[in-house]
Amino acid sequence: LKPVGADRYEITQRETVLEILPGIKTPLWTYDGTFPGPTIEARRGRPVTVTHHNRLPVPTVVHLHGGRTPPESDGYPTDLVLPDGWHDPGHGTHMHDPRAVVTRLTRDYTFPMDQRATMLWYHDHRMDFTAPAIWRGLAGLHIIRDDAEESLGLPAGSRELPLVIMDRAFDGDGGLAYPALDPSLRAHPGVHEPYLAGVLGDVILVNGAPWPVHEVDAARYRLRLLNASNARHYDLEAVTEDGRRLDLVQIGADQGLLAAPVTHQTLPIAPAERYDVVADFSGVPVGGLVKILNRLGSGRTSEVMAFRVARRGADDSRIPSVLSADLPAWNRSDAVRVRDFSFRAGQMNGGHGWLIGGLPFHPARTDVTVGLGDVEVWRLIADVHHPVHLHLAGFRVLSRGGKPPLPRDAGLKDTISLRPGESAEIITRFDGYRGRYLFHCHNAEHEDMGMMANLEIG
Ligand code: C2O
Ligand code: CU
Ligand code: CU
Repeated sequence: LKPVGADRYEITQRETVLEILPGIKTPLWTYDGTFPGPTIEARRGRPVTVTHHNRLPVPTVVHLHGGRTPPESDGYPTDLVLPDGWHDPGHGTHMHDPRAVVTRLTRDYTFPMDQRATMLWYHDHRMDFTAPAIWRGLAGLHIIRDDAEESLGLPAGSRELPLVIMDRAFDGDGGLAYPALDPSLRAHPGVHEPYLAGVLGDVILVNGAPWPVHEVDAARYRLRLLNASNARHYDLEAVTEDGRRLDLVQIGADQGLLAAPVTHQTLPIAPAERYDVVADFSGVPVGGLVKILNRLGSGRTSEVMAFRVARRGADDSRIPSVLSADLPAWNRSDAVRVRDFSFRAGQMNGGHGWLIGGLPFHPARTDVTVGLGDVEVWRLIADVHHPVHLHLAGFRVLSRGGKPPLPRDAGLKDTISLRPGESAEIITRFDGYRGRYLFHCHNAEHEDMGMMANLEIG
């Protein structure tokens, strides 16, 4: 993607036909014709403006996930970018939002980038329609870099690989199959069934390609993982042909570098989570294959991708034992308030829905008001698996099920994977901007079916 000027990007959202499965044409909704969308490269402290033009047949909303963004650029679900010729800005939003910003065909989103270096992602966030829009292709990466991270000597250049993992299903014509788009399902009672739990696909894509095999040197690689699936959870492992597991050395979380590396044998990743890991292929013979497997999958969904070690290679990269010293260290005693939120199934508009604190999302209701600068502890409890995401404020995990956090909870997060029946405590300081933000389940179907709430920072 070419910046159109200093830290300015232009993206046209449009329908594009791409070949994802060999020899098969798949119509997608894209950011600028690519899937995933173009990767935006940013420097910490240098604001980025992205102008989005909507040439899709539907309204859209762009959200930078993990961004510390003023509310007017955060992509509130009713803050639409309209397609040309769309005359009803309320369409598709069955609930009146008195604060809905009036909409336009093109809009600038401004991101201050006043935050830690990390890998963010941008995706559609239109109310009630986020899941099918992401499914059809509206997601891309946004990487923030800084000098401190670059001075560490981590694997870089062609040995740094952002990996966007997602599952998709295809219909007989090569189109993406999304249950809600299939008119035959609408006629059935229990129409929600195919997507109540979240939509899964049987094809695993990495950076838009099915089960890719990537050639690597026998050296260390930095793998920047994002689970951009609507609803699929993975438990990743890297396994050689002779059945040996390679360590996945975690160096970063959703919101940037950890204080110190954490070594995993297997790494669970929920929708919207990012893990920054280093894998060392130096012990793998030239010609050897390392498969990235998904222990939660079955059949072909148990495989994600593979690395083919193509050649030996000099390697002067390293993983320092101290990665960063600027992680916020909030204590329970800093918190001015403790709040409880349940994430559970319930009734919504007479049908099945997913609720926070017993309520489905409503844009005109403020669910939580916090003071600017306040530190709070939030206790979250889930009925089934819910990856809970908070806009604006990165958080630390304080506990899970009354016990200390897990190794994978290290660092600064913006999404926490709550397991069935599990409770967890997170702590954060709500600073940066005043205004209206969101928190929600990042199972995209749960989000569309009500599991989202408004947070007002006053
Ligand atoms: Cu990744 Cu509110 O979303
Ligand atoms: Cu977000
Ligand atoms: Cu959920």
